[in-house]
Amino acid sequence: MVAKNRARPGEHHDKENPTTASTLAAGVIHELQSIVGPSYVWTDPEKMEAYSHDETDAKTYGHMPDVVVFPKTTEEVCRIVKLANQYRVPIVPRGAGSGLSGGAIPHQGGIVVSLERMNALIELDTANMVAVVEAGMVTNDLARKVTEHGLFYAGYPMSLETCCIGGNIAENAGGGKAIKYGVTGRYILGIELVTPTGESVWLGGKLSKDVTGYDLKSLVIGSEGTLGIVTKAIVKLIGLPKAWADLLVLFHTPQEAINAVPRILTQGVVPVSIEFMDRLSIQTSCRYLNETLPYEKAGALLLIEVDGTNPEQVETDMITVGELCEEQGALEVYVAQDKNNRERIWNVRRNIAEAFKVYCPVQSLEDIVVPPSRIPDLIPELEKLSAKYGIQIPCYGHAGDGNLHATLVKDPKMDMETWKRVEDSCLRELYAAVARLGGKISGEHGIGIKRKKYFQEIANPVELELMRALKKAWDPKNIMNPGKIIDL
Ligand code: LAC
Ligand code: ZN
Repeated sequence: MVAKNRARPGEHHDKENPTTASTLAAGVIHELQSIVGPSYVWTDPEKMEAYSHDETDAKTYGHMPDVVVFPKTTEEVCRIVKLANQYRVPIVPRGAGSGLSGGAIPHQGGIVVSLERMNALIELDTANMVAVVEAGMVTNDLARKVTEHGLFYAGYPMSLETCCIGGNIAENAGGGKAIKYGVTGRYILGIELVTPTGESVWLGGKLSKDVTGYDLKSLVIGSEGTLGIVTKAIVKLIGLPKAWADLLVLFHTPQEAINAVPRILTQGVVPVSIEFMDRLSIQTSCRYLNETLPYEKAGALLLIEVDGTNPEQVETDMITVGELCEEQGALEVYVAQDKNNRERIWNVRRNIAEAFKVYCPVQSLEDIVVPPSRIPDLIPELEKLSAKYGIQIPCYGHAGDGNLHATLVKDPKMDMETWKRVEDSCLRELYAAVARLGGKISGEHGIGIKRKKYFQEIANPVELELMRALKKAWDPKNIMNPGKIIDL
């Protein structure tokens, strides 16, 4: 989520700040000012603070940029990137800063390019069911605008109220509708990219099929801003569902709740989502929101959504899923079909990460992913690690995608030095367990700087070399979000 109450670009002219930590040649700042205008070039540390971190712990991962710029056009972005190449300055693209792996943090300083001002809906092409948008458009704004036309943008990151399309593309964001609707990449038909050398190019198009050469668009999606800056996107829209139902299902234990997931997934009904929340996760979010949900008797809950264009079918699917849960030992199945109650439940789900950040600020929020059939095997692994290291590991997430947000939480009594050691060893063991189950260390938050060390330890060396070769070919001076995902 973006920092609240911070200054906005262009609000007033940035005075030359003699205390700025900028190590950039004055010429660079000057040229940036001539490209975007002086009010859209910030060097004041106080104003830049919000751009020094994302949603990972600012103390651990944050780093001040030398300058933040706010371009308005693709042409301006090209000129900024060319300038960065000329002076060999790191350049870090940034959307809303809601990332969870440090991808948008300028950890080597340099120029942060914020896409916030590039937030227009350029075209709504209903004949082709696509929208053409600028990368800084807030995902929820897009979702709302197309709904007015009876259309549906199916991407649904949990931070949808603040995150933007460009950031969703950079991370290939997942979220709460992926079982049925897939992740961001499925809806990105084309992108306008400013390459790491400052050329602009359209990849893909308003096309349902395209095998014309390498699929460069898909390579860029999820590349965490290391292969260029996405400035525009062609987004695929679909018809709006007409009916929805959410089931809130209580189970005695996390294991019982998770065991039900592969069972639900293999019975023919394709739910929109099967979200898992253990008791501590739901309790923490309810406390944060001052909300009440009937979780008291439960060790864990599943939040299962079904939707469709035919209300009777949705009703039937809902009953089928509810019965399956009962067969799996559910304590209680609550149904929410009205907008108000559905939104109340989802609000609790969406705010878990934020709530843990408030109440347990020293933590490691993970997003491990395993094949859905292996997800029951994760629970004993987490319980084992929690006991071994003496820390709580609350867990929630997109169970139907095999993707869980296990969150390692520091005990307040534990000193920081011990915590660092425990966190490191525990993560290594967790990632090894995930690999044994056929999984990967990140299903939706990405590698960024937070997981780079572990990724390079655990990934296949051949795969890593292919990634390095790609990065070198695309970004010969290694200036585009350098030091993220892999070291060269
Ligand atoms: C969520 C974020 C943390 O699912 O990915 O809430
Ligand atoms: Zn998530």
